[in-house]
Amino acid sequence: MKLLVAGGAGYIGSVVTRLLVQEGHEVVILDDLSTGHADSVPEGVRLESASIADADRILDGAGFDAVLHFAAKSLVGESVERPSIYWHTNVVGTRLLLDAMARHGVPRLVFSSTAAVYGEPDQVPITEDTPCRPTNTYGATKLAVDMMISGECIATGLGAVSLRYFNVAGAALGAGERHAIETHLIPIALDATSGLRDKLTIHGDDWPTPDGTPIRDYVHVLDLARAHVLALGAAQPGEHLICNLGNGNGFSVREVMTAIEEVTGLPLPATVGPRRAGDPTVLVASADRARSKLGWAPEFDLRRMVADAWAFRGTAPEIGDRR
Ligand code: UFG
Repeated sequence: MKLLVAGGAGYIGSVVTRLLVQEGHEVVILDDLSTGHADSVPEGVRLESASIADADRILDGAGFDAVLHFAAKSLVGESVERPSIYWHTNVVGTRLLLDAMARHGVPRLVFSSTAAVYGEPDQVPITEDTPCRPTNTYGATKLAVDMMISGECIATGLGAVSLRYFNVAGAALGAGERHAIETHLIPIALDATSGLRDKLTIHGDDWPTPDGTPIRDYVHVLDLARAHVLALGAAQPGEHLICNLGNGNGFSVREVMTAIEEVTGLPLPATVGPRRAGDPTVLVASADRARSKLGWAPEFDLRRMVADAWAFRGTAPEIGDRR
C-alpha cells in the first residue's frame, strides 16, 4: 500500500515506519519535527517536513491507500497546564486531516489512541467497553478524536482502527525513545542506572497496591508496531474498530525497577517523592478484542523491553544531553 505516516519521525511512528517498509509498503512521512527527529526517518522514505494542516496538499492527487496518524502532543502534565495546545494540535489537527482524507478519497485510517481515555477505571482489566472518563486534557483530546472518527466512518465510509496504547516501552529496528523532555518511567530509570541522572524519584509509595507503587501494563513497541500492520488489513469501509493494546499483565514501579537492575546488572538509585497528579493506581488492558479482530498476540515481556531500551541508548547520543 501507499501510506502516509503522520508523526512518523517520533518514537512509535519511526518504529512503525520501519516495519511498514520492511513489509514492502511505500511510506511518506508527514512530521513538523516539533518533537520528532529527521534522522529517525529511514533511507528510502520521503519526509514532508510540514504541519498536519498541510495534509491536504500532500494527499492531493497522490493516491494514498491509508493514513497512520501518530502526530500529537502526548505529555499528560503539559496537557493539564497548557490545554489549548492539546485541543488545537490533537483535535483541530485531526479534523483537518480527516477533511483532507475525505476530499482526496483516502479510504483507511489507523489512529494512535491511548489508555488515558479511560481515566481511573472501576475495574481491571480494562476492556474497550469500560466507561471513558479521562482525568486530563491529553486523554480528553484523544477521546474526542475517537468520537470524531466514529462519526466520520458513518458519514464518509472511512474504514478506521483506533489503537489504545497502554505503556509503550523498548526499542526496535534501530529506532527508540529520544524525547527531549522525558517523563516515562523506564527511560528515566535507565538514565539513573547509567549515571545520567542522580536518581529516580518514585512518585509515591502509598498507593493501594501490594508494594505501594502504581501498576501499569507495559507493551513492547515492536509488538505495538505489528498491531498497526494488522490494523491496516482489518479496516473495513464505514466501520470504526477500537482496540486496546497491552500485554494484560500489571507491573508495579518497584517491579519495573527490579527488572531494570536485573537486566542491566547495575544498581538503580531511587528516592520516594510525592504522588504525581493525575496518575491512576492500576491500568491493565484486556487485549482480547485485538486478539480476535486483528489476530494480534504480543510476544515480548518486560525484561525484553528493558533490554532493548538499554541497548538502544548506546546508539542515541543526544540522550546524554538531557538531565
Ligand atoms: N513514575 C515514577 N517516576 C518517574 C516516572 C514515572 O514513579 O520518574 C511512575 C508513574 O508515577 C507511574 C509509572 O511510573 O506510576 C508509569 O509512569 P509513566 O510516566 O512511564 O507512564 P504513565 O502510566 O503515566 O503514562 C502512560 C502513557 C501515557 C498515557 C498514560 C495513561 O505514557 O501516554 O499511560 O494513564 F496517557
